[in-house]
Amino acid sequence: MTRLAVLISGFGSNLQAVLDATSSGLLPGVEVALVVSNRKEAYGIQRAIRAGVPVVYFPLAPYTQAGRPRTDYDADLASLLEAFRVEWVVLAGWMHVLSNAFLLRFPQRVVNLHPALPGAFPGTNAIQRAYEAFQRGEIARTGVMVHLVPDEDVDAGPVVAQEEVPIFPQDSLADLEARIHAVEHRLLVQALGQLLCSPSSQGASR
Ligand code: GRF
Repeated sequence: MTRLAVLISGFGSNLQAVLDATSSGLLPGVEVALVVSNRKEAYGIQRAIRAGVPVVYFPLAPYTQAGRPRTDYDADLASLLEAFRVEWVVLAGWMHVLSNAFLLRFPQRVVNLHPALPGAFPGTNAIQRAYEAFQRGEIARTGVMVHLVPDEDVDAGPVVAQEEVPIFPQDSLADLEARIHAVEHRLLVQALGQLLCSPSSQGASR
């Protein structure tokens, strides 16, 4: 089995999509071996517990309070994943930017989900910023992308899958969020299938 870690900070609906896909056979040979949350109140923790998947709350605050550099946190996070024999890492609403102290431990094995098209609205609140740009007449559509994370650039890297999402004039922000999240849940599973389950991905497990 190819062992995934899913890193979350919040609601965990994308984690749920991955859990559902692994348990329903949509991602054959793939298992979620570990969920990590940097926030204690993240609802995704309950989803992991319900699915019987190990979950670790791993906050940054003790490091910053002790005056330790961010790279210590990232290196310890990588060690945690290695202890669970994790091979691939999925950032599903993870609200930290990972440094090379983490990324170099999982080269070409970190996958990020971004609720906008490649190159558009990197960083937080991407859906809201796209919505506001639409209101100003600057864009006609937005989208979702799944990409590899080769370096410390935010929401950038080789695109694995992308899909446009329309914005309609009558949309509320909540309407657009719901439409984007539905695409995210499908596209993330599709991208993981391409990376981990397609014939060309033989050897994805190391
Ligand atoms: C998603 O929109 C993801 O693209 C963004 O944060 C959100 C996480 O949602 N980076 P959830 O926690 O998976 O429900």
